[in-house]
Amino acid sequence: MDKLLKRTHYCGTLGITDAGREVVLDGWVAGRRNLGSLIFADIRDRSGIVQVVFGDDSPEEIKEKANTLRSEYVVGIVGTVRERESKNPEMQTGDIEIVASALSIYSKSETPPIYIKDDDNVSGELRLKYRYLDLRKPEMQRVLAFRSKMYHVVRNFFYEEGFTEVETPVLAKPTPEGARDYLVPSRVNPGKFYALPQSPQQFKQLLMVGGTDKYIQIAKCYRDEDLRADRQPEFTQIDLEMSFVDQDDIIEVQERFLKRLFAEMLGIEIETPLPRLTWTEAMNRFGSDKPDLRVGFELVDIADAVKGSGFGVFEDAIAAGGRVKGINMEACSPKFSRKDIDRMTESIKTYGARGLIWIRVEEDEIKSSVSKFFNQEALAKICARFEAKSGDLILVVAGPQDVVWASLGFLRRDLAGKLGMLDPRDYKLLWVVDFPMFEWSEEEERYMAQHHPFTSPKNEDIKYLNSGDLGRIFADAYDIVINGYEAGGGSIRIHDGVLQKKIFEVLQLSEEDIKERFGFFIDAFKYGAPPHGGIAFGLDRLCMLLLGTDDIRDVIAFPKNQSAQCVMSDAPTVVSEEQLYELSVKVEIKDKKADE
Ligand code: AMO
Repeated sequence: MDKLLKRTHYCGTLGITDAGREVVLDGWVAGRRNLGSLIFADIRDRSGIVQVVFGDDSPEEIKEKANTLRSEYVVGIVGTVRERESKNPEMQTGDIEIVASALSIYSKSETPPIYIKDDDNVSGELRLKYRYLDLRKPEMQRVLAFRSKMYHVVRNFFYEEGFTEVETPVLAKPTPEGARDYLVPSRVNPGKFYALPQSPQQFKQLLMVGGTDKYIQIAKCYRDEDLRADRQPEFTQIDLEMSFVDQDDIIEVQERFLKRLFAEMLGIEIETPLPRLTWTEAMNRFGSDKPDLRVGFELVDIADAVKGSGFGVFEDAIAAGGRVKGINMEACSPKFSRKDIDRMTESIKTYGARGLIWIRVEEDEIKSSVSKFFNQEALAKICARFEAKSGDLILVVAGPQDVVWASLGFLRRDLAGKLGMLDPRDYKLLWVVDFPMFEWSEEEERYMAQHHPFTSPKNEDIKYLNSGDLGRIFADAYDIVINGYEAGGGSIRIHDGVLQKKIFEVLQLSEEDIKERFGFFIDAFKYGAPPHGGIAFGLDRLCMLLLGTDDIRDVIAFPKNQSAQCVMSDAPTVVSEEQLYELSVKVEIKDKKADE
């Protein structure tokens, strides 16, 4: 290998004030142009790109060597910074160039399979396959540095607040947190499995029982769930727990944390206290438990205005105890064609909606898909409920409450996005509090814990635990919502072993199951558990929001694809017979479809 030239500067940091200075740079060749007597090479490192020139002022053997440079060769360069004759305002270092006096070639490169520049237009899969090349892009390095700074801000803040950072086990017991577990066979305990933690929930609560008082961990979590743009099978939480606190205490610390985070990462001042909405209010007004407050388009209940109209869709919904609700897309009537509305109708069918009713308010007429059933006067009455003006488009959905919420909740945000109304740099934060304790699972035909079974029901609702109507029990649970994303969630926990056992029972866990899965946990509560509560932020999601992207993979160095595979290393893979034998594991692929 050529001699290692010890770096004095990073490429992207050089500027006109360095003119005349001798510098040593190490990096990758981002491009080379040969202009007869002059050879230009762009050299890239994690900080950016600078132009190096091999010209009349460079020794002849250096020029010859420069002629052999190809993209992605790794080089070291000694040279002098010089002001450029023709400056390039597009480039961070466009005012200067480096006149080379020495060149080392450390390694050569084959033609790379992806372009290494920020606007490469390469497919996501290919970028992930060659992630180590993708990471060379200045933008990707900027993201990694940003994320790294986040860890520091988080640690500094919570350290100053007296939190103790504790690492909890990754080889753990299955956790009941809604998603499926990733399992790891134990060699020394044949037939037994660890589960990778879906979150450190039980451990952090046991740390409170253990007297740790304030805990923090930047924790890796693992969930085998269907992936979306904001979900990965392994992700990172900023995980926190505190003793002798109530919900207000926890929210107060977290608001100060968020204030610091936004200030240090983006220089943005967040106004606190943040707004709080109860879950019920969020659902009624926005059709979502993570409302995006960057836009209005609130849901309006029009059941009483349409009752008795004889229009079957409305009448049936009302008779069945459902809802008739709508949103007013103000001034949007001209922006959406008939075809657009057909598309909207299709899109809400996935939420169970049977149709979408539209009303267009025009200067001298109100047009509607239901004008057969509603005359102008009746339509005007509906429009009045929305305070609609000429140019407005009203969209109405009728049906079961869940369907109406989900459909309109989806439409208000989706349409706002399509209209370009969602500025990623406009941050709207809020707390959604008082979630229902349980939700009915059609699949399992039983109630499940909405957050997790360690969450405390609201004091005044505990009496309903024996009522069979678990749907009316609300919990001391809260989510922090940013621009329509759930950025974090937490709760006050149950610290009474008897109540905890009762919750497991209403979740229909058998005595045996409770003992086998949570015996240790319930036991711990027999020996003096402090009142406690906590929260976990999705670090990846926070990072994604702060950077203004909507794909979580953009902020993870080595993410998985939609099928939970690492396309670069090809994980997961089959393993050797020897390895399986050692683990006492035999693989038999089940035909699940046939079994069904
Ligand atoms: P929860 O399940 O709400 O709560 O998770 C907390 C936060 O973690 C993030 N998150 C995810 N991020 C990326 N990919 C995923 N698959 C994923 N799943 C969750 C979200 C979410 O708000 N133990 C409780 C916390 C507590 O009660 O203290 C818990 O894990 O941003």
